Amino acid sequence: MNRVLFVCLGNICRSPAAEGVFRAMAAQAGVDCTVDSAGTSNWHLGNPPYGPMIDNSNVRGVDLTALRARQFQTADFAAFDLIIAMDRANQIDIEAMRPQGNGTPVRLFLSFAQDSTADVPDPYYTRDFDGVLDLIEQASRDLLARWPPK
Ligand code: 4NP
Repeated sequence: MNRVLFVCLGNICRSPAAEGVFRAMAAQAGVDCTVDSAGTSNWHLGNPPYGPMIDNSNVRGVDLTALRARQFQTADFAAFDLIIAMDRANQIDIEAMRPQGNGTPVRLFLSFAQDSTADVPDPYYTRDFDGVLDLIEQASRDLLARWPPK
């Protein structure tokens, strides 16, 4: 259990922020893992994260500038041990692509933080980039506290 994929809709706000924050926190905690992110849509293929997401992450010491958007693909089920969806719509879209016989867990990110079924709200629409980073940091702390997750 050491390959983790974060997935959102566009792969320019929530999941790249989760990738950057979790990678930094895992390294700090001495947890050896591979971290990546993807979007269920192909809307922003090859693009860097959204400017305000980069800026707000920078304030917290997390550099997202090297990341580029890619689309979630069927092969990701085999390439990762844990797939983490930002919201319920992402989770449903991911599950619809699951190959027969594959058992890779697809969990909501906030289910680690709060044992909840809540979504990480999309800051592309809410404009609350700082609030989303708070949620991502808390969820990352909780995931690391339970490492390796079941
Ligand atoms: P994300 O946010 O899923 O957190 O990357 C979005 C970014 C762009 C769009 C939607 C959500 N969009 O409609 O372009």
